[in-house]
Amino acid sequence: MQRLFNKRILLGVTGSVAAYKSAELVRRLRDAGAEVRVVMTEGATEFVTPLTFQALSGHPVHRHLLDAETEAAMGHISLARWADTILVAPASANFLARLAQGRADDLLSAICLAGDVPLAVAPAMNQQMWVDAATQANARALQSRGVLMFGPAAGEQACGEVGPGRMQEPEQLVQQLDEIFESGSLSGRTVVITAGPTREAIDPVRFLSNHSSGKMGYAIAAAAVEAGAKVILISGPTALPVPERVELVQVVSAQQMRDAVMARLVSAEMLIATAAVADYRPVQSATKKLKKDNESLTLELTRNPDILAEAKRHHPQVFCVGFAAETEALVEHARTKLVAKGVEMIAANLVGPSAVEARGVFGNDENALHVVWAEGELSLPLASKARLARDLVALIAERYTNWRPERAPRGKVIKLR
Ligand SMILES: Cc1cc2nc3c(=O)[nH]c(=O)nc-3n(C[C@H](O)[C@H](O)[C@H](O)COP(=O)(O)O)c2cc1C
Repeated sequence: MQRLFNKRILLGVTGSVAAYKSAELVRRLRDAGAEVRVVMTEGATEFVTPLTFQALSGHPVHRHLLDAETEAAMGHISLARWADTILVAPASANFLARLAQGRADDLLSAICLAGDVPLAVAPAMNQQMWVDAATQANARALQSRGVLMFGPAAGEQACGEVGPGRMQEPEQLVQQLDEIFESGSLSGRTVVITAGPTREAIDPVRFLSNHSSGKMGYAIAAAAVEAGAKVILISGPTALPVPERVELVQVVSAQQMRDAVMARLVSAEMLIATAAVADYRPVQSATKKLKKDNESLTLELTRNPDILAEAKRHHPQVFCVGFAAETEALVEHARTKLVAKGVEMIAANLVGPSAVEARGVFGNDENALHVVWAEGELSLPLASKARLARDLVALIAERYTNWRPERAPRGKVIKLR
């Protein structure tokens, strides 16, 4: 059920006695890693309270079309744009008729009309209502337009009759919804990505930092989301917009970044460390602004934690990818770093006057990488950072598939005679 991970499901609930089953459906969708927003028709609210769906989905339930307040926030168009797919379950006979006619006089119908994403309906009604010629004609019309028909199942009904018209069980609906999505190369994986520079305070107004813009890390975060991963982006100060569906953790100093990474790796499978972490920080950060009383000023610096090496040491089960910015001997230095830090891959890029002059690295939208791992290496030629990020994520996913964390060293082998 990994394809539903990080997906946005808009669940429409209409006025059927089966509406209570959709409470369980929301829970199962969330268990599969999907984000769920619920839209209820007025009919549906007669069967189950919006509060139930609000509590289960973690979001307010949307109900009204002609409501100035909700339209200004998340109205019918933005809800339709938000969703990766729309599932209406249960779908009443009345709703199927509205959908078949292309009506837009209630919120759910308007969203279905405005959406350009897969639309699935799970009919639920009395068996006679389902076999009625009008309902059958509506169902056929909808299917011919590409609407997915999940069920209905046959069996004993709430009214005591037996026949077709039962809503499929939540488990089946989740399974069918999962099959709509293509599997991404990182589906179901949690990936921690660090990005940007760190700032090491000298006093309340000054700091030591570097030129990192964070663009490469943010592009990798977006590419990992595209590949189906749940992404936690731990970022130093940048001026970049946060990619969609990414959980952002903002930090300032190297030590804060270290703490955030260590805490998040407990539940992650992968770390991609692109941040340009300051190697040193002032031993003391003045509590008041330093005055220019003297002709010279000496700052004593101390080493910052090596986040990548420490991450690998403490979390050997996490697949770790480091970045190296080198001014010379790119491949040799990358290989040395690979071994020294005990990580699975290093992506190296050339920086320094000549490289920056040629194409710029910091803040630029293009880059080139040379990626090394224990058994091989690959050059990813100059391309936009977005393109490069996609290629790198594909390469990381491929290496990760064949990777097994090394087992802890075994005890001494005793030979038996
Ligand atoms: C107790 C009760 C149960 C109902 N169950 C269903 C049902 O399972 N399926 C259905 O299509 N209509 C059912 N209806 C009728 C719908 O609630 C009615 O057509 C309503 O207008 C649907 O509105 P909506 O499609 O906007 O939610 C039921 C009505 C009542 C009073």
